[in-house]
Amino acid sequence: MEVTLIAAIGKNNELGKDNHLIWYIPKDLAFFKKITMGKIIVMGRKTFESLPNLLPGRRHVVLSQTCTNFPKEVTFYHSLKELLEKEKEELFVIGGAQIYKLFLDYTTKMYLTEIDGEAKDADAYFPKFDKTEWEKNVLCEHQEPISYRHVEYVKKR
Ligand SMILES: NC(=O)c1ccc[n+]([C@@H]2O[C@H](COP(=O)([O-])OP(=O)(O)OC[C@H]3O[C@@H](n4cnc5c(N)ncnc54)[C@H](OP(=O)(O)O)[C@@H]3O)[C@@H](O)[C@H]2O)c1
Repeated sequence: MEVTLIAAIGKNNELGKDNHLIWYIPKDLAFFKKITMGKIIVMGRKTFESLPNLLPGRRHVVLSQTCTNFPKEVTFYHSLKELLEKEKEELFVIGGAQIYKLFLDYTTKMYLTEIDGEAKDADAYFPKFDKTEWEKNVLCEHQEPISYRHVEYVKKR
């Protein structure tokens, strides 16, 4: 089973604050939609709660040790072990901080939106990773509404 991870991060790996995203970049949300459409998306319970709605066209898989009251469309697991036993197709891990950390060792590809911004009051951070273990391809660069780039990282064999 293949694991791909997708995240938008600040200069210091900032991911979120108070269970919200820090930057609002419509074109990045469109990129996220394009990459994840039709796929299985995996997230933590907090990220699931941060979504305004179920994301159309994607099967939602949520990890929670405590909750069971998810909408019927959602598949939930209480442990990574259980999830890995049951899910056999490609997974797109969409956050947040705890879930990225949990899946990093299983991940072979990452799409990171690297935003040239900082948020000193962030409370969720993308895990540090060893960049020498990954091949880096810059897919595109943008300047509006803030300078950022879409970067693909592929795990070296
Ligand atoms: N910038 C981005 O690309 C991006 C993407 C996604 C999210 N975010 C941000 O990230 C923040 C949320 O991240 P977070 O780390 O606080 O929360 P999270 O990773 O979304 O969810 C954490 C929850 O997942 C469950 N969980 C974690 N490890 C587990 C395990 N081993 N087995 C079963 N369940 C497990 C627990 O749920 P229970 O407590 O229910 O047991 C835990 O409280 C928000 O600010 C959000 O906006 C940013």
